[in-house]
Amino acid sequence: MIRRKFLQILGGGIVVAATGATAWAMTRDPARARAPWATAGQLNDDPRRRALSYAILAPNPHNRQPWLADLSVKNQITLTCDLARRLEHTDPYDRQITIGLGAFLELLRMAAAQDGFATDITLFPNGEPSPRLDQRPIARIGFVGDANAKRDPLFAHVLDRRTNRNAHDLSMPLTAEPMAAMARAANSGLVDHAIEPERVAALRDLTWQAMYVEMTTFKAWKESVDLTRIGKAEIEANPDGISLSGPFLEGLSLTGLLNKAAMLDRNSTAFQQQVPFLRAPFEATAAFLWLKTPGNSRTDQINAGRDYVRINLAATAAGVAMQPLSQALQEYREMAPQFAAIRGALGIGASEGLQMLMRVGYAETPRASPRWRFETRILAG
Ligand SMILES: Cc1cc2nc3c(=O)[nH]c(=O)nc-3n(C[C@H](O)[C@H](O)[C@H](O)COP(=O)(O)O)c2cc1C
Repeated sequence: MIRRKFLQILGGGIVVAATGATAWAMTRDPARARAPWATAGQLNDDPRRRALSYAILAPNPHNRQPWLADLSVKNQITLTCDLARRLEHTDPYDRQITIGLGAFLELLRMAAAQDGFATDITLFPNGEPSPRLDQRPIARIGFVGDANAKRDPLFAHVLDRRTNRNAHDLSMPLTAEPMAAMARAANSGLVDHAIEPERVAALRDLTWQAMYVEMTTFKAWKESVDLTRIGKAEIEANPDGISLSGPFLEGLSLTGLLNKAAMLDRNSTAFQQQVPFLRAPFEATAAFLWLKTPGNSRTDQINAGRDYVRINLAATAAGVAMQPLSQALQEYREMAPQFAAIRGALGIGASEGLQMLMRVGYAETPRASPRWRFETRILAG
């Protein structure tokens, strides 16, 4: 549907030669970038590497995959943040990057337990970095063989977990039951939701307004556009960032209709044309779910990431599509009105951290997102 809409938006200006197009289209999947989903858990005599092969599948902002694992000490992983992979403009205090590192830690813990290893996790062993992350470790994780390590039932869904940006089937409203299952998956933060049509409509408006602010704030939008990989070759060369794949989008790129300069220029036709395209999923949103923490310390942010991936896995188990909409939660100056408005609308207390806000509903399942192979994220050892 979105594809058809986009074609309408472009005024039907594309002609694809039928001959050869189908064969070409069939070769456009960036399969190499998705391979880490198929090879996770493959035989390796180091349990730390086996666990890392799952942990790198964690959800994380703009799919930057900021994790670096130092394996130089036996039976231990020291996790640090690749500081070059942070999002300077949209995540000025590295809050979201820290959430992604929390999700990584939770998958690491689950994978190790599944494999018969208990993990002893010390967060920020050299102190909590503030106001931004620095070279100090995010966590030190000891691996101890433990045949009785408690398996986590959510682990069964790790390979099927997705961020799902598709339109929801609005004829299938969410009921209280899957909402409760997702809320129960969180271990430390508080989860709440909105399913009432009027409230959902108000949140759709607010989240879209925030998205529009982001698109029209040059530095913030440029950060996303710079990290956009269009088509198979770009995605396989850099399997991180925002990937636009498939023959349709790659075709637009080849014809010059989809290009980064135009995506950035507010006065260009291409910029105006992407507005309804980007708005469509906001409109087709069945319900919202959010996660807050008692404070906003680095430990709170790590805990939020650990909870978020668990909630996303519980959604997968319940067949529910989930996509974070983070723009209104972001701490840059131009977003201040939307930042205050969303906290007001969700009743977030002054000292609480609003860490994640997600649209949830029933939708077609997308394919797995790209990943760097875990071996490329090992610093030493
Ligand atoms: C803190 C955080 C914020 C995110 N914000 C957004 C967002 O605003 N919009 C969105 O589409 N995805 C968002 N995501 C999802 C990531 O883009 C996604 O996890 C990443 O691209 C990898 O894809 P996957 O989750 O399907 O493996 C966010 C994820 C995290 C952890």
